[in-house]
Amino acid sequence: MKGLILSGGKGTRLRPLTHTRAKQLVPIANKANIDYCVEDIVRAGVTDIGIIISPETGEEVKAYLGDGSRLGAKITYILQDRPGGLAHAVKIAQPYLENDPFIMYLGDNLLDGGIQHMLEKFNKGGVEACILLTKVPNPSSFGVAVRDPSGKIVRLVEKPKEYISDLALVGVYLFTPKIHEIIANLKPSARGELEITEAIQNLLEAGFVVNAEEVRGYWKDTGNAADLLDANRLVLSRIEREISGTVENSEIVGEVQIASGASIKNSRLRGPISIAAGAVVENAYVGPYTSIGENAIVKDCELEYSILMQGSRLEGIARRVDSSILGEEVRVLGEVERKNTVQFFLGDRSTVKI
Ligand code: DAU
Repeated sequence: MKGLILSGGKGTRLRPLTHTRAKQLVPIANKANIDYCVEDIVRAGVTDIGIIISPETGEEVKAYLGDGSRLGAKITYILQDRPGGLAHAVKIAQPYLENDPFIMYLGDNLLDGGIQHMLEKFNKGGVEACILLTKVPNPSSFGVAVRDPSGKIVRLVEKPKEYISDLALVGVYLFTPKIHEIIANLKPSARGELEITEAIQNLLEAGFVVNAEEVRGYWKDTGNAADLLDANRLVLSRIEREISGTVENSEIVGEVQIASGASIKNSRLRGPISIAAGAVVENAYVGPYTSIGENAIVKDCELEYSILMQGSRLEGIARRVDSSILGEEVRVLGEVERKNTVQFFLGDRSTVKI
């Protein structure tokens, strides 16, 4: 068994963050999304993992994950020259996957219940694919599955315009090598991609069995800002208190992780919160579900339900900052330099709400 993580694609819905970075590297509780994917596959006992990368962000993904040994994996990178679709990614990975069954994992998905239960059933044999499903309120944004009353999968449609089911396909799939034969005959969809959902539908039509499991715990596709904040909340809701940094004259309540080298002064912290190495929190209130990245600074302000990435700085803001995402090295400065004026220096597609 091998793993295949998809870390190519365009990431347009997470701009401006993904102007400069792969969306799979966006941090959730101070760890890149893709780390959670690799960890999940390794936990299931699979250590040979191929990672699909794009020409635009591939080098960054490689620099971040390296050979995978940090996570107990042996990583091989596979360059996809264009975002030709999820099934196109499988097609170009075939020389790496050879004749092995494999776990395909979308690099912007976050799953908490693990994939073991899915794998156990798949390993019993008799099925060519296993998919993971969960109910969603907006099925037209996903691939969806229709089951018959006995629970058997009868139909799969990618992003259906009209309602056929509210059971979405989660971005984790198990396949036998049979899928390669099906993909070889697949034609591009209306959006010009080779769709994995269609390939699985074709497996069904060819008379093969596709098994489905339901998600245990939470699942998140972190493709947009609101989902990213929610993913951060979900991961933080599982953390335990661990204080290694320095804390001075401050009140800390609940599950708070403060990495060594971080410093907290004259502040109130209400967990769950993750604070990375080198971060500084001073004269501040930091509320639940907040992640503060390496060397970020939070000073003279109140912050809640937010993600501050590496090196960002939030200072002197009179109103509470809520539901916000600051990319790397972003600076938001309040009444510290000028009075009665506001000054902006924002990258393309930034959002400011005052
Ligand atoms: O998140 C679950 C959904 O993921 C499923 O319900 C859909 O059936 C499935 O098609 C997929 O839909 P998305 O529209 O969310 O896929 P997206 O284009 O965001 O790509 C998912 C991941 O795969 C992302 O990490 C980028 C990567 N990717 C994508 C394409 C199109 C590649 O590596 N290569 C590609 O060609």
